[in-house]
Amino acid sequence: MDLQARFFCGRIEGLEFLFQGANLEDFGGTMKFGFFDDKEREYVINEPLTPYPWINYLGNEKFFSLISNTAGGYAFYTDARLRRLTRYRYNDIPLDCNGRYFFIKDGDAIWNPGFKPMKTKLDKYECRHGFGYTKIASEKNGLAADVLYMVPNGENCEVEMVTLTNKGKSDKDISLVSFIEWCLYNGQTDGENFQRNLSTGEVEIEGSVIYHKTEYRERRNHFAFYSVNSPIDGFDTDRETFLGLHNSLDEANVILSGKSGNSVADGWSPIASHRLNCTLKAGESKTYVFILGYIENPEDKKFISEKDVKQPFKATNKYSGIVNKEKAYALQEKFSTKEKVEAAYNALRSFWDETLSHFAISTGDEKLDRMAVWNQYQCVVTYNFARSASYFESGIGRGLGFRDTSQDMLGAAHQLPSKRIRERLYDVAATQFEDGSAYHQFQPLTKRGNADIGSNFNDDPLWLVLGVGNYIRETGDKDFLKVEVPFDNSETNKATMFEHLKRSYNYIPNHMGPHGLPLIGRADWNDCLNLNCFSKDPNDSFQTCTNKEGKNAESVMIAQMFVYVTPDYAAMCRIMGDEAEAKKAEDLCKKMEAAICSAGWDGDWYIRAYDDFGHKIGSKECDDGKIFIETQGFGTMAQCGADKGYPAKALDSVKKYLDSKYGICIVDPPYSSYHVELGEVSSYPPGYKENGGIFCHNNPWVIIGEIKTGRPNDAWEHYKKIAPAYLEEISEIHRTEPYVYAQMIAGKTAGRFGEAKNSWLTGTAAWNFVALSQFICGLQPAYEGLRIEPRLPEHVKKAEMTRKFRGVTYHINVVNKKNDGKIVISVDKGNAKIDGTLVSAENGCSEVFLTATVG
Ligand code: BGC
Ligand code: NOJ
Repeated sequence: MDLQARFFCGRIEGLEFLFQGANLEDFGGTMKFGFFDDKEREYVINEPLTPYPWINYLGNEKFFSLISNTAGGYAFYTDARLRRLTRYRYNDIPLDCNGRYFFIKDGDAIWNPGFKPMKTKLDKYECRHGFGYTKIASEKNGLAADVLYMVPNGENCEVEMVTLTNKGKSDKDISLVSFIEWCLYNGQTDGENFQRNLSTGEVEIEGSVIYHKTEYRERRNHFAFYSVNSPIDGFDTDRETFLGLHNSLDEANVILSGKSGNSVADGWSPIASHRLNCTLKAGESKTYVFILGYIENPEDKKFISEKDVKQPFKATNKYSGIVNKEKAYALQEKFSTKEKVEAAYNALRSFWDETLSHFAISTGDEKLDRMAVWNQYQCVVTYNFARSASYFESGIGRGLGFRDTSQDMLGAAHQLPSKRIRERLYDVAATQFEDGSAYHQFQPLTKRGNADIGSNFNDDPLWLVLGVGNYIRETGDKDFLKVEVPFDNSETNKATMFEHLKRSYNYIPNHMGPHGLPLIGRADWNDCLNLNCFSKDPNDSFQTCTNKEGKNAESVMIAQMFVYVTPDYAAMCRIMGDEAEAKKAEDLCKKMEAAICSAGWDGDWYIRAYDDFGHKIGSKECDDGKIFIETQGFGTMAQCGADKGYPAKALDSVKKYLDSKYGICIVDPPYSSYHVELGEVSSYPPGYKENGGIFCHNNPWVIIGEIKTGRPNDAWEHYKKIAPAYLEEISEIHRTEPYVYAQMIAGKTAGRFGEAKNSWLTGTAAWNFVALSQFICGLQPAYEGLRIEPRLPEHVKKAEMTRKFRGVTYHINVVNKKNDGKIVISVDKGNAKIDGTLVSAENGCSEVFLTATVG
């Protein structure tokens, strides 16, 4: 389809179609908006009006940006709430219309390389989302604009390199105008405290650089800047001057008139805009480098005196001091030329190549191979943000979750430097209380537990055991267990990481209910199963209100998690020489499994929970909510009641009641009305979110359960239903990015079955990585070495896998014969000890070649 037709399809027919509910057949075939460039490892979007903004993340340490395929989004330093640098209006009309925009005026044509906000029809449009960078390339009337956006590794800035090329036959007089809108640092108050905000904005303009210095006084030691490496022909820092009070971004005064206002913001809404006029001869190119930077100054070096200002200078407020810009100059210098930017870009690409090389597969199924790459990328993003900032998470609502972050480590520990995993696990454990419970969330900047949400999610402690166990299995770094970690961030109250795990683990047996199952507290993994909430007030938040003391309601899922983590816990006890604790745990685990098999089994599947009255949840006895996925997933991962054949039965029930063509729904039938004793789960419309959506996060639990139950082909059927690369062709239905998982796909009872929401920041990333790498591909880090037990789908007869593990590169050649689970490993080259399916390199050997024959 040509570009013009695609615009129409997206804008007119497409919208109608979206309102009527999705049906691919009506659209006569595939509806792709781009393709995977596997060689470049980029997703290439060739239609700006994607079914939803398709975004990417820039930055990997402290400075981060979200960028959509039309250059929308925002930047922040470490914390999307406390240090937001540029503004973004969630829920805006139209959607996604604030970002870093370049306006090009070429004769009468005014356009943006990213299509928005002008939405001028382009002759060519392409957006390439790569790892840590995005490139947008467009053309209009023989003028090409290529823009590279990236956050260089280790730097606190977003670099934007714009190259304009005159592909026509005559000279062109062009103007290029940049635009960003500053956020007054606190993303939350910026959107609510207008009586203050509208009077505080301050800027300085020095040469070609615009500095944002709102509140840079006694309490704020940081400022931001937006620079360009060329003299400018005008600038603006006042939004109203730039736009005109009643105009939107596609009718900005400064853009339409072709004249910048040279405005100096004074309160209201400060922005940064540069104007560059240039003449391009036929065939000529020009490159500009823009930098959006963040600087912190020491208390005693914040200001300089007026006589030290060298360049043309303007500032908002003559009473506030002049910003000391030394560090900003140094940062500007680092990327002052095209060559320097290209070097940083190459370094960034090498960084990602290395990062993603720790697990690599070639199976002959191109979509599967793609998933391996993109899934790992998404795991790094969830490591960085947990659930804090995406196009569905405002960046002000949630910091980092205790449970979320602990499990995100499952997808990150194999690829990021161990220092970063240790640091994050340390931060999580430091928000734990002495009794083993924990703050449910904490802020990334302050690392303090979030008192608003508080504690009492009784599953939280166990995720830490899982996260630490996985880290130690991956790295062999046993000393981490001996590191001293604070409770509740108190430097005077510390205990070893092992002691933290002990408190975590024992929190469960210390909080048991009437059926010998763990008490649920405010909720377990399912944040919406609020069994002690009993809320009748629409002004209550389900997440924070608890009206019952919580002495009755129990979670079968926590019981199964307890069984699942016990082997890890016992192994760590033994590493620490605590045999008594290991034995005690194994005994408790047996008892727990017995309780699951009696009080937690419903005949054909595992029960979900008991409510405050002792009634079953997720049982045949219920009218709605008869079966939940979580306990079928964790129950089969933990193989509870395996001797009685429970896992296979439970998995059959999943297929019968929960499965659908777009994935496994979380509960069936969904609740059709509100149940005061169940809370938020029953407040969602049937088919959405926790009330019957396809909650992608727990699909991999079933996948893992299937493999543990010896059914790799069933695992595969579940895997490919939600893996985004397999959904690319139904992008009109799925709507979110085909390169990352979403938290939820509307379930079979929903009006918009198959439509995804909340892409990027979800535990789905880490868990599907576990399902893929450790179970489908079967490469499991174990305490004593690497376990190799591939359970690939039938159609993959041969595969090559590479796994870097504890400094050794393992190359594994898999021959999948009958796929019957009988696995024989042999060494082709290198030195390794083999014990069944457990392999470990020996005698300092750093590269081992193996063959794994299955069946
Ligand atoms: C959502 C959950 C989420 C929770 C905490 C609920 O409304 O449905 O998915 O985890 O809020 O923010
Ligand atoms: C999203 C939360 O971030 C996660 O912690 C939770 O488990 C799921 N929602 C399910 O409620």
